[in-house]
Amino acid sequence: MLTNFNDMLQLARKNHCAIPHFNINNLEFTKFILEKCQELNVPVILGVSINAAQYMGGWSVPVAFTKALIRELNLTIPICLHVDHGTKEECLKAITAGFTSVMIDSSSLSLQDNIQITKELVNYAHQYNVSVEGEIGEIKECYKGNFPTNLNECLKYYEETKVDALAPAIGNAHGIYHKNPTLNFNLIEELSVRINIPLVLHGASGISSENLKKLIKLGITKININTDLLLAWNNGLREFIKTNKDVYDPRQIISSGKQNVQEKIAELIETFETKSVT
Ligand code: G3H
Ligand code: ZN
Repeated sequence: MLTNFNDMLQLARKNHCAIPHFNINNLEFTKFILEKCQELNVPVILGVSINAAQYMGGWSVPVAFTKALIRELNLTIPICLHVDHGTKEECLKAITAGFTSVMIDSSSLSLQDNIQITKELVNYAHQYNVSVEGEIGEIKECYKGNFPTNLNECLKYYEETKVDALAPAIGNAHGIYHKNPTLNFNLIEELSVRINIPLVLHGASGISSENLKKLIKLGITKININTDLLLAWNNGLREFIKTNKDVYDPRQIISSGKQNVQEKIAELIETFETKSVT
């Protein structure tokens, strides 16, 4: 069964560990991730961006195949299917399609408009037991620069929207970091004292495990990873193609990155100290 993220993140908050959010783009990645998380017996959040949903054919496609995998593979871990960086309109479509959690990203708007749109979505989503993550400040691609937020903005946004989890921009960015990001650790520390909800780290690929551990200690409980898994898969696949020029079976080619992806997942889960569920 798919769940929202509330129980898993509140538990992680209490246990001072983090739950992994891994982005999915297709059936194969979803299966690689779920198999490994089941083996490690840890909860997982599967993130689907608007582009990924379009690529797969629409929001109902990942809902259908994730539910089918849960059934066919007898998965028992808590699994949350979550919209990643959605607009209000796309989040509504995803909820209708069966998503159990959404992230609304109206962070490029003014603070007041961001609050207003987020609040409308929270009111709607909560009627269906769907959890909502909101973004404050702007977390963009690495090459687009940095738009961090501050304590007052975060408190105002949280007080007025009542999101279930908050993703503040603290100097983090998506994709491959070309230099080490300067992260606002203080903001995470202050926020986790001032507000009682899980805090989310986006753009976590490429952040050192030392800094990830430090952020978890300060209050980060959901960590978003996309690029790290894509790079791991790419490395495996390119190596395979180089040495297996005659293979044309897509199942073999796509699966050639599986071991790398699953090793990366295990490494990250160890860093996050994600607690097993029994
Ligand atoms: O929303 C997605 C995440 O923030 C992933 O970022 O690709 O840098 O790991 P990443
Ligand atoms: Zn993100």
